[in-house]
Amino acid sequence: MAARVGVLFNGSLVDLVRARPDAADFLSVIPERFWQDLGRDRGERFVPLPDEVALLDELASHHRLVAHGVGLSIASGSTFDIDHVKQLAKWHRRYRFGWISEHLSAVRVQTEVTADHHAGLALPLPWDHDLLEMLCERVGRVQDMLGTRLLLENGVVHTPVPDCDMSEEDFVNALVRRTGCGLLLDLHNLHVNAVNLGIGPDLYIDRLDLDAVGEMHVAGGNRLFGAYLDSHAGACPAEVWRLLRRTAPRCRNLAGVTFEFHESYFPGLGEAGVLKELDRMRAALARPEAPSCRSPNSSALLPT
Ligand SMILES: [Fe+2]
Repeated sequence: MAARVGVLFNGSLVDLVRARPDAADFLSVIPERFWQDLGRDRGERFVPLPDEVALLDELASHHRLVAHGVGLSIASGSTFDIDHVKQLAKWHRRYRFGWISEHLSAVRVQTEVTADHHAGLALPLPWDHDLLEMLCERVGRVQDMLGTRLLLENGVVHTPVPDCDMSEEDFVNALVRRTGCGLLLDLHNLHVNAVNLGIGPDLYIDRLDLDAVGEMHVAGGNRLFGAYLDSHAGACPAEVWRLLRRTAPRCRNLAGVTFEFHESYFPGLGEAGVLKELDRMRAALARPEAPSCRSPNSSALLPT
């Protein structure tokens, strides 16, 4: 079955999804937006937000929902928040998400002198055996608690870590092989890494176990002080569409492609702009790039 197209839900989309429930095949929702976390030291830690939960109930009655978590920070060495996983599992039992994804990242930090806090951006990860062992154990526990496979999303590389034991691609493939987890392949994140650091997206993709890819993200970005940011700033750049056309047909288990934009950019995008991106996603999936007759690992020879 062809992959479905969806959009990462935010408040600016309420009118559109009510008026055009058929516009997207699914909505990706961020579970953490529907509760307030009062902190680990509180007995009743997770408090549902009534208005947001009512909206989620409404969305669930008309749309297929998938969950895209942002708060787990599964790669943080200093903290692993089992209660957060339990909360996610509770909501999965309630809404039966089509699938659940999180980020392969560390954004939370706890030290001897500071409580668990958000670092403000994803921290650089060392692709080494210690991290792999830690993540295999954690991903297994998370999947057991959720009762479903977890998709993990590749992140933006802000600062490469030197002298890693392996490449990011080899690390991810090993994690997939050992845990049975899936991948959420964010094509814009790859584009960001290419623009800022010259990391070629084609070779990265060619080295991945593409059978593990269950979802893809497409998005746009913008520049700030010379850096290109994964800011979800509106329409997707041409390079993201090229990557989608080239990669999607090779992912046999791809269930959905999701357009991400931040609601602060909705005024520039508008409903027409969101619908246009969804149409472009469908067109890219319907008209993939012709397969190359060259070796799949010879991405440098593929058309750009
Ligand atoms: Fe993403």
